[in-house]
Amino acid sequence: MISLSDLRQFKQQGRKFSCLTCYDASMAKAMELAEIDSILIGDSLGMVVQGHDSTLPVTVADMAYHTAAVRRGNQHSFIMCDLPFMSYATLNDALVNSRTVMQAGAQMIKIEGGAWLSETVQVLTRNGVPVCVHLGLTPQSVHVFGGYKLQAKTREAADQLIADCKAVVDAGAAILLLECVPSQLGSEIAALFPNVPVIGIGAGVETDGQVLVVQDMLGLTFGRVARFVRNFMKEQSGEMAIMDAFKAYHVAVQEKTFPAKEHIFQVEL
Ligand code: KIV
Repeated sequence: MISLSDLRQFKQQGRKFSCLTCYDASMAKAMELAEIDSILIGDSLGMVVQGHDSTLPVTVADMAYHTAAVRRGNQHSFIMCDLPFMSYATLNDALVNSRTVMQAGAQMIKIEGGAWLSETVQVLTRNGVPVCVHLGLTPQSVHVFGGYKLQAKTREAADQLIADCKAVVDAGAAILLLECVPSQLGSEIAALFPNVPVIGIGAGVETDGQVLVVQDMLGLTFGRVARFVRNFMKEQSGEMAIMDAFKAYHVAVQEKTFPAKEHIFQVEL
């Protein structure tokens, strides 16, 4: 089973790692067979599994249920689980809810925010819970942003995001996840922290890992498709098409052929 130390080692070796969201045991098994490095039980399940129009309705019980199913199906990938909307607003909530999802099988929790999460990160880490902090476009704050939009488009905003990363890393964050930011910023942040793997989604090709929502990369998105998505299913045929799509994604991430120019945001900072 891949561990946090393995992901750190991949970064040091310059070996890019793959991550996909996953919510059930059979997909988790296909990801194991395709040797996907890490899995995120994302609160995106509120949209792609439950049919809501945002991630806000998702509960800790939902996250624990899907995490347990994924863990039963996959003994290979490193497993991260989102703490959903408002489930880590107090230190006590963060501790109690992390216990629930870690006991369900997660190896790390993910929370969305910036420097203001420093105390939460520190307390969780001290209590044995490795933390990934998700920055940039943080979907739990969609109503603050007024939509799903590119973040950190100016040098000033990029520097603020870098300061947020430094604060949470100083507090103990073990992985950073950047969503929908200029690729130059993704690459600056990945270079800044030699011991902290940085995962990107719409953050350029130079982050240490890439993540996609599994329905998106299998072509199961029926509304607007985000720029950073590539449909890996389109190139497959035959009985093992889904597993082959996962394998193709894993290879494309390792070889840095994904994300390509058409999937990234090029803004001069
Ligand atoms: O919930 C999720 O699927 C996520 C990814 C978009 C990174 O946070």
